[in-house]
Amino acid sequence: MKHIFEVGSDPAAPVLLLLHGTGGTERDLIGIAKHIDATASILSVRGNVLENGMPRFFRRLAEGVFDIEDLKFRTAELKDFIDEAAVQYGFDRSKVIAIGYSNGANIAASLLFHYEDALLGASLHHPMVPLRDINLPDLTGKNVFIAAGDNDPICVPQETEELTSLLQGAGANVELIWEQHGHQLTRSELEKAKQWYEHNFK
Ligand code: MLT
Repeated sequence: MKHIFEVGSDPAAPVLLLLHGTGGTERDLIGIAKHIDATASILSVRGNVLENGMPRFFRRLAEGVFDIEDLKFRTAELKDFIDEAAVQYGFDRSKVIAIGYSNGANIAASLLFHYEDALLGASLHHPMVPLRDINLPDLTGKNVFIAAGDNDPICVPQETEELTSLLQGAGANVELIWEQHGHQLTRSELEKAKQWYEHNFK
């Protein structure tokens, strides 16, 4: 997959896996990652699917209607890519924390829904429930941060609550925060994500 890897100054720090929103690129979240942890290594990936020229991490049939077969295939593809990148760049595979926005948050959530050990933790910004009718793996003790907008037309509050309870039901420690905004990333949610990260991983 097209990506950027930047080795961090602290070899003991987590590796931040950056997953952009629809129409984004692997460059979008680099500044945010550096704000959250300037010492961490960064693995930032571009989604392999194109929708009218816009990169995404999996196909959708319509706004909010996901192509579940493609989502499953792309989730496995991303997991394999992280495994291979860990070998290629020599980072600790067990220390990967996803930071995902929108479509990138949705594939990060799908990694959590499919694999016990794909991620050490995840900061999900405006995620949806990636898929239903799946038994989640044991996520006991896994730290997940969710930032949602109480006026988000793409991800309605009820869906955020559903995602939170599915993850909690699998044992994850979920910190959910609400912004009085829509689908956009806000400065205040990034500050809260940084606090969550420092509290749990520093
Ligand atoms: C998705 O398709 O993953 C969600 O609708 C979010 C987005 O617009 O990318």
